[in-house]
Parts: sequence; C-alpha cells; structure tokens
Amino acid sequence: MPSSARARSASVRRNRRIWDRQSRAYDRRHAAALGGRNALAWGLFRIPESRAQLLGPVQGRRILELGCGAARWSIALSRRGARAIGLDLSMAQLARARELKRSARSSLPLVRASAEQLPFADESFDLAFSDWGASTFADPRPMIPECARILRTGGRLVLVTGNPWSAVVLDPRSGRFRHRLHRPYFTLHRLDDSPMAPVEYRLPYADWFTLFRQNGFEVERLEEPRPAPRARSSYLDRDGHRFARSWPLETIWSVRKRSPTPRPRSRPRARSAPKEPISGHAAR
Ligand SMILES: C[S@@+](CC[C@H](N)C(=O)[O-])C[C@H]1O[C@@H](n2cnc3c(N)ncnc32)[C@H](O)[C@@H]1O
Repeated sequence: MPSSARARSASVRRNRRIWDRQSRAYDRRHAAALGGRNALAWGLFRIPESRAQLLGPVQGRRILELGCGAARWSIALSRRGARAIGLDLSMAQLARARELKRSARSSLPLVRASAEQLPFADESFDLAFSDWGASTFADPRPMIPECARILRTGGRLVLVTGNPWSAVVLDPRSGRFRHRLHRPYFTLHRLDDSPMAPVEYRLPYADWFTLFRQNGFEVERLEEPRPAPRARSSYLDRDGHRFARSWPLETIWSVRKRSPTPRPRSRPRARSAPKEPISGHAAR
C-alpha cells in the first residue's frame, strides 16, 4: 500500500474510534442546535435550507448524506419524500441515528462506510451532501472522485465545511482563532493537531477548484456565510462568535457533475457494491 493510502486508512480508523467515543457527548451538547426545526439547517450557525436553497427539490430524489451522524438531516428529507440514505463511519453515531429513526417511525436506510470508498453503484444518486460530516473529516482527494462516480450526470454535490483561511488562523495549541498565521496556506490538507481529536481536512480554494474540475464538476456556488450580529452557535465560545463576524469560518460549495467521470486506473471500488442503487450495506 502506498504511504499516502496507509496514512489515509490510519486517519479513517482514528476518526472512527474518536467519533465512537465522543458520539454521546457531541449529541448531548448539540442536540438542540441540530434537531427539531433546525434539522434542515446548515453549518455552525444553522442557516435554514429554506433560506440557503442549496438542495433544490427533494421529492423522489435519490440523496446520499455523507457523514450523517445522528441522521437528523436525512430523516427530515425522507419525511419530505426524498429517497435518502444516511452514511457514516461511526457505529455509535449510527446507533444514535437508529434511535432517532425509531422515534420518527422512519425507514431511512443507514450505511456504515467511509465516504472515501462508497459502497454504491456508479451514477446511483441525484444529490449528495454533507453538513460538517465527511466534508470535514474525510480526505477530499479520494472522496470527490467517489462522489463523482456515484452521482448521475447533472447530479449535485453540496458540501458545508471549515473555511481554509480559518485553519491558517487556528492556534493548534489552544484551539482558538487568533489574529496570527499559524500554518502555511498552500500546503493545507490534513489537520492533525491533537491525538485526542479527529483528523480534519482543508484544502486551499485553488486545490478544491482543480479537484472538482478534474472530476467533471462545475462550481455553481461558493459561499462564506457571515453570521448575523446576534447569531449564536453551540460550537463557538464568545471569542469564536466575535471572530466569525469579521473572518470566515465556513465554506459552502455547490457543484454539479457536468460530464461522465474519467476513470482513474486505480479507482477504489467496493467489490460488493450493490447492483441496485439504493439498497444493501444497511446498518439498520
Ligand atoms: C460533526 S459530525 C456531523 C454529523 C451531522 N451533520 C451532525 O451535525 O450531526 C461528523 C460526522 O462525520 C462522520 N465521519 C467522519 N469521517 C467520516 C468518513 N470518512 N466517512 C463518513 N463519515 C465520516 C463522523 O463519524 C461524524 O458522525
């Protein structure tokens, strides 16, 4: 195995272990921000989809959520008639999703896998999205080609994740945003600041554009949402809120697959990829 692939699978193992361990605490802390009428909302400041209009019509659409966590998004989309699937790496996160599914009487399929190697047939989804899920914690270099493979031509990918700039000004020792540059911009990729925290990924904007274009995607929207003066986030302390008013902490991508993807020779494929687009591998 090449050393980059070894590092990647070590990151996936570590992220699975850490998300299994922190799932309960994460859910307790953010449940109110993520659930109820916030289930269909994006990012640190929970921008409602009714305002952001990132997904478009969902009725009858085959939709994959990448890194669904407790699957609040996917459960809510299923209720609106989408043929959604929630995918996540962590058993504990999926266990929480099953609890929420039961109380919502939802039949949403849940799949345990890494977004870096998707166990689905080519061209089997109309839309894939991630709200600070695999968009942040999976390596985009294998994930974006996989998204291109499983989306039909004309399908859309929506990613909400950390802003590359914010990674430069994040002090790795304190975990706070500072008015200082803490790491080089051009080499942004894998962020591994503490063995106790999951590995995260950021790319410079030019690298995102190249990656999208190489995989047949056209960028339709790139946004850096600025929170309203009184907006609050369960993910930030007071300094973080102040910071977010002046500097971007988040990035929103909406890209569309314009052409069939050229297949790289060593494209990773699950041998057991189901023949039917939406079935199998369910962790229900
Ligand atoms: C911050 S949570 C976000 C989940 C959901 N959007 C929410 O807000 O509850 C990040 C999720 O990404 C999942 N994740 C991390 N790495 C992943 C990967 N390579 N593939 C799929 N999911 C991954 C984690 O297990 C975790 O459930």
